[in-house]
Amino acid sequence: MCGIVGYVGEKQALQVVVDGLRRLEYRGYDSAGVAVVSEGELDTRKKAGKLANLESLLGSDPLPQSTIGIGHTRWATHGGPTDLNAHPHVSEDGKVAVIHNGIIENFAELRAELMAAGVHLSSETDTEVVAHLLAATLPAVDGDLAEAMRTVCRRLSGAFTLVAVDADQPDVVVGARRNSPLVVGRGEGENFLASDVAAFIAHTRFAIELGQDQVVELRRESVTVTDFDGGPADVTEFEVTWDASAAEKGGYDTFMAKEIAEQPKAVSDTMLGRIGVDGQLKLDEMRLAENDLREIDKVVVVACGTAYHAGMVAKYALEHWVRIPCEVELASEFRYRDPVVGPGTLIIAISQSGETMDTIMALRYAREQGSKVLAICNTQGSTIPRESDAVLYTHAGPEVAVASTKAFLTQLVACYLVALYVAQVRGNKYGDEIAMIVRELQAMPQKVDLVLDTSEEMKELAEELKDARSVLFIGRHVGFPVALEGALKLKELAYMHAEGFAAGELKHGPIALLEDGLPVICIVPSPAGRSVLHEKIVSNIQEVRARGARTIVIAEEGDESVVPYADHLVRIPACPTLLQPLVATVPLQVFAAAMAAAKGHDVDQPRNLAKSVTVE
Ligand code: M6R
Repeated sequence: MCGIVGYVGEKQALQVVVDGLRRLEYRGYDSAGVAVVSEGELDTRKKAGKLANLESLLGSDPLPQSTIGIGHTRWATHGGPTDLNAHPHVSEDGKVAVIHNGIIENFAELRAELMAAGVHLSSETDTEVVAHLLAATLPAVDGDLAEAMRTVCRRLSGAFTLVAVDADQPDVVVGARRNSPLVVGRGEGENFLASDVAAFIAHTRFAIELGQDQVVELRRESVTVTDFDGGPADVTEFEVTWDASAAEKGGYDTFMAKEIAEQPKAVSDTMLGRIGVDGQLKLDEMRLAENDLREIDKVVVVACGTAYHAGMVAKYALEHWVRIPCEVELASEFRYRDPVVGPGTLIIAISQSGETMDTIMALRYAREQGSKVLAICNTQGSTIPRESDAVLYTHAGPEVAVASTKAFLTQLVACYLVALYVAQVRGNKYGDEIAMIVRELQAMPQKVDLVLDTSEEMKELAEELKDARSVLFIGRHVGFPVALEGALKLKELAYMHAEGFAAGELKHGPIALLEDGLPVICIVPSPAGRSVLHEKIVSNIQEVRARGARTIVIAEEGDESVVPYADHLVRIPACPTLLQPLVATVPLQVFAAAMAAAKGHDVDQPRNLAKSVTVE
């Protein structure tokens, strides 16, 4: 959701800010704006639509040169995506400009108070109240913008990252953070503020995580962080491990295409350094005491969207390898159903961004009940790992396309590693059994690489099916979350009806949807050992075909039993069923991206979506 950039230094601020906003475009937005301070004057430009609209406005109505500035991409919540509602919002005296990510829940009350005091509000946003409140507070705090920010923040409820500049203080940018992301980039003679490190990675790799309820005062040579009362605050410094090129398209047409292609490496990187030569897991970095792992009696996974599908696979792995009960819950539902969790429960919170508000609220609730929380996350310095008891980072590198691909595969790997580690610690498996599964896991990057060879065929299939009204996906066991993931990808990218079902459920209702020519994508588990699971899905495929639907069967090399029932057969490398999501998902990602392209949609930034969903 909204992207924020702030800069103070020696360079032209506008350039730095606009470049930063471009790197945050992936978060999703519908308007953009900037403000700079120059010679005691504040100037802003803002425009509905994409950054190109703002840039053309800046071309016809340029801003003065300045070395201090802020910029924003807005994903509309309060008030439509118009020029007027775009950020920055400016105080009535034209001196203070504010940008904001999040929702100020008590804005109606604050708005009424300001209006009663004669302030004229010109937008429909919750943000504008902050600009007026800061302006009203400044005289009482000797014009100290950081102190004014602390005073105002104490009055706000909800989630907010705020960044402000003041025409009377041309050398300072002030930020505040509660429940929404904000990271400091530390440079030489320059400093940055941004929603995530991608915005400033071209300038510096040195970053500071800001904690909850903190205010930061940014000057050229200094960064000062306090809590909302002005007291000293604990911050964590870190160095970003990837560089600017990792967040560029690198010759691919879309970020999504690049990220799909990066999956073999991402899968391999997520295992790197975590497996000993003896094939045993080395996950001390998680900071989860072995005793705590021995004492848990239940695991609950909380996550949203694609990460939730990874969590569903984790359940199969944990229950099979560790024999421990595992529930998987949509994070947005978790705390509202009075879940039975406590000190004996291990919560696993899975999130690419680490900023998904539903997941943050779920983990906070679980910690209040005394549960330990392990985060599986791709973003260093983000809220979810910071607020968890333990963390296992996925090493997917930056994921820019809104539709998650490589992050999903690395979440799966992290889930397998955690499940095996818990089995190892609790003694559910002998060392040689663990080593055998680990060897199979280590063979997966190469298999993911092989499955990329199906890409051309999936693109041709998408071209053929681009006018279909609907596509169904069926699977059993871990093929069920793969079916859900395939359908989610198609919905978000191709804007069409797509639905995933547990294949066994078809006869309990969804079979009524089948009609002549309806594409049904069927995920077939490994036939190794002639499993009942395999036999059952082959029957389901026959039932689908008998009703005139068009079957697109994803089955492993050498599985001949499906051939007679497949209108189209996509081959994936053989692997144990439990690990199959790592290969079975890939053709579905390519298919969804190709469907979107065939329909002329923006593959990287689908309509209405944001990369990280920072509001509930
Ligand atoms: O950053 P997170 O992993 O917490 O995000 C969760 C979902 O919002 C995300 O997976 C979403 O479903 C993706 N757009 C799916 O491609």
